[in-house]
Amino acid sequence: MSTSEKLNAKLTLSDGREFNLPIHQGSLGYDAVDVQSLVKNKLFTFDPGFMSTASCVSKITYIDGDNGILLHRGYPIADLAKKADYLEVAHLLLFGEAPNEEEYKEFTKLVKKHTLVHEQISRFFHGFRRDSHPMAVMCGVSGALAAFYHDSLDINNIEHRQITAIRLLAKMPTLAAMCYKYSIGQPFMFPLNKLSYSGNFLHMMFATPCEPYEVNPVLEKAMNTIFILHADHEQNASTSTVRTAASSGANPFACIAAGIASLWGPAHGGANEACINMLEEIGSVDRIPEYIARAKDKNDPFRLMGFGHRVYKNYDPRAKVMRQTCHEVLQELNIQTPLMDVAMELEKIALSDPYFIDHKLYPNVDFYSGIILSAIGIPKSMFTVIFALARTVGWIAHWKEMFEPGNMKIVRPRQLYEGYTERSFQPLDK
Ligand code: SDX
Repeated sequence: MSTSEKLNAKLTLSDGREFNLPIHQGSLGYDAVDVQSLVKNKLFTFDPGFMSTASCVSKITYIDGDNGILLHRGYPIADLAKKADYLEVAHLLLFGEAPNEEEYKEFTKLVKKHTLVHEQISRFFHGFRRDSHPMAVMCGVSGALAAFYHDSLDINNIEHRQITAIRLLAKMPTLAAMCYKYSIGQPFMFPLNKLSYSGNFLHMMFATPCEPYEVNPVLEKAMNTIFILHADHEQNASTSTVRTAASSGANPFACIAAGIASLWGPAHGGANEACINMLEEIGSVDRIPEYIARAKDKNDPFRLMGFGHRVYKNYDPRAKVMRQTCHEVLQELNIQTPLMDVAMELEKIALSDPYFIDHKLYPNVDFYSGIILSAIGIPKSMFTVIFALARTVGWIAHWKEMFEPGNMKIVRPRQLYEGYTERSFQPLDK
């Protein structure tokens, strides 16, 4: 971060107070007015939802919402989705550079050494109802990991941080698949370390002890793409939640559980499940106008799920890749799903409708992902679990970044208070 020599801000209040505010410039993106000095002059800024607020300095991901650009450590998302393996992207996010062949082999071997979860954890699942929402289970089990790794909870110990990052990256697919197996009453499948990260996930999801399971390479590639497209996305709600939890010194397992909880909401990671529910509810192309009208109706809370984004006011670059993958998977599986027809028609109509054009509402990452996951045979209740699985490496990368010098500050926003002024309390008998 560099403070601009030429550019600075002067805040002049009508009561004559004046403040000179420095302006910071990053390597890309908007400049930032540094308002830290205001509080000592008894002034706050007001920015609900932090739409105009840079909460930190970060080097991991850059989003240009106006132009639909997403870079991970400088690499465009479409490049990574096409050319990289998820663990290469994980290495890139965690360490700042993609691994060379040797580093990739080492990193993959290290991750595979930690894919198993403690046997006691499998007993955890049996405390949940079989019909529990898998995200409720994931919130519980991921936080509970802290109870199993007392040897690595000192966040100020770099070795602890490193082993924890590997454990979380390695175990999330295992836990996610266990959620699914538990919900359908099938036995948990152990990880098969000879498989790729995404191949192993498909195996743990769909294999049974009774017969061999062949990973379909097209589905394996689709899973790899889906994991990459969901890996990280700057300071979104769940990543900001992880950073907030981390800022109090909470252990990383608790921080990831907080991120999972935040991701669950339908306005965020829960949108992929909500989007499929919406497409199923629409059911056929001729009912689309009715839902478009509802999405525009201010008195109707209905939103077009899978559309719109806090930052992208252009087509989400991940949605473009996801759309392509969708076609590949449906073709490979020879699936003609009415959901896809509804989705394609809905996208076409929405992109030409003045309301959506004016509000800059484009399909986002969640619009097509549900169709692919359904085609692969993954139930919609598992969609956000898969989002959480893939996003864990992004959450950890941001958590790790907070330990760089000067980055760790407890997150404690203020407020504009509109409650009662002081009054004295009358005891009940008065
Ligand atoms: C993710 O932040 C991230 O990076 C998140 C994410 C990630 O990778 O981490 O990208 C993943 O969460 C993607 C978003 C998934 N959510 C959905 O698909 C749910 C549907 N989308 C909306 O809920 C909404 O678009 C948000 C929450 C995503 C973003 O909303 P904004 O831009 O913060 O602001 P807003 O909700 O106030 O909407 C602005 C206007 C409003 O109209 P006006 O009152 O100004 O007239 O746009 C309208 C809204 O009514 N609007 C929509 C709409 N989204 C916004 N109208 C109809 N359908 C929609 N989907």
